[in-house]
Amino acid sequence: MLVTGKGGVGKTTVTASLARFAASQGKRVLCAEMVGDPAASSALADALGVEHLDIEPVSIAPNLKAVLLAPHLGHTRFLRDVLPMKLLADAAMRSAAIRRFLAAAPTFPEMGVLYRLLDLVRMKQRDGSDEHELIIVDLPATGHALALAQIPASLLRVIPTGPIANAVREGLDLLTDAKRTGAIVVTLPETLPVSEALELVKGIQLHDIPLAQVMVNRVPFDPFSEEERAAVKVMLTGRAPTLGERTLERIDRSRIALTRLKREVKVPIVSLQDVWLDGPRLAEEMASLMAVEGVI
Ligand SMILES: Nc1ncnc2c1ncn2[C@@H]1O[C@H](COP(=O)(O)OP(=O)(O)OP(=O)(O)O)[C@@H](O)[C@H]1O
Ligand SMILES: [Mg+2]
Repeated sequence: MLVTGKGGVGKTTVTASLARFAASQGKRVLCAEMVGDPAASSALADALGVEHLDIEPVSIAPNLKAVLLAPHLGHTRFLRDVLPMKLLADAAMRSAAIRRFLAAAPTFPEMGVLYRLLDLVRMKQRDGSDEHELIIVDLPATGHALALAQIPASLLRVIPTGPIANAVREGLDLLTDAKRTGAIVVTLPETLPVSEALELVKGIQLHDIPLAQVMVNRVPFDPFSEEERAAVKVMLTGRAPTLGERTLERIDRSRIALTRLKREVKVPIVSLQDVWLDGPRLAEEMASLMAVEGVI
């Protein structure tokens, strides 16, 4: 599952909650945060309530592992595919100049992540079953889900055969296979975020990445039925400013946003409540709400 969306809409929170929820249902889950630099602080680690995460999966709770998805390990594999000997590839990877080149060239960070993702997808347990039954990837910002799929395709035009082309093809097959991959677009129940989410949905579909769900995060609690809300409106018309007015407006905008999404998107729209918590308790609470309401 690729979790994507604009900045600050709750991608990391959704990733951590979904991971906790799916693990509690008995799935072997790996959640991954895509980062440029594994040494920088990890938002996913914060959301999961752990000190730090690493480029190798670590166990966080029963059935739940987490990992940082950085281009570095993928680059090493990539060089092993390009250079004749493992020794040479490892030596090349130790060169700061080559590392800088791989980090800067527009195609290579995505390639590194794709290579690494394939490794994690392929990992098996001793009995041959998948090590990770569900991998949830927290993508950094809008555009990256597309970059993962788009750049390999352009690379294939330049390097159509050989081990790199094969790995790229395998990566693209994975990203575009609706049985194995699904994108989750996270958004907020407000006008502009919904417009942006609709744009993103279009882009994702244009690049053949299967869209699984749209999750509307931080939906305000709405105690009213349609009729009750209309009655409240009549009661308040012509009055001086009333306590709670802004909350009412927020509830109304949220309703409009949800209606618009339901009208324009074919995949399931899932609402996630605005919860008065933060830090790791937020993801834990959201995971238990997911268990009650059923999200996947
Ligand atoms: N359902 C929710 N209820 C209350 N607060 C929430 C909820 N979801 C997210 N938040 C809060 O909103 C903020 C942004 O969430 P988060 O970091 O998950 O977003 P993001 O999309 O990953 O951001 P970025 O684009 O910076 O990576 C955080 O402070 C988080 O605690
Ligand atoms: Mg984040």
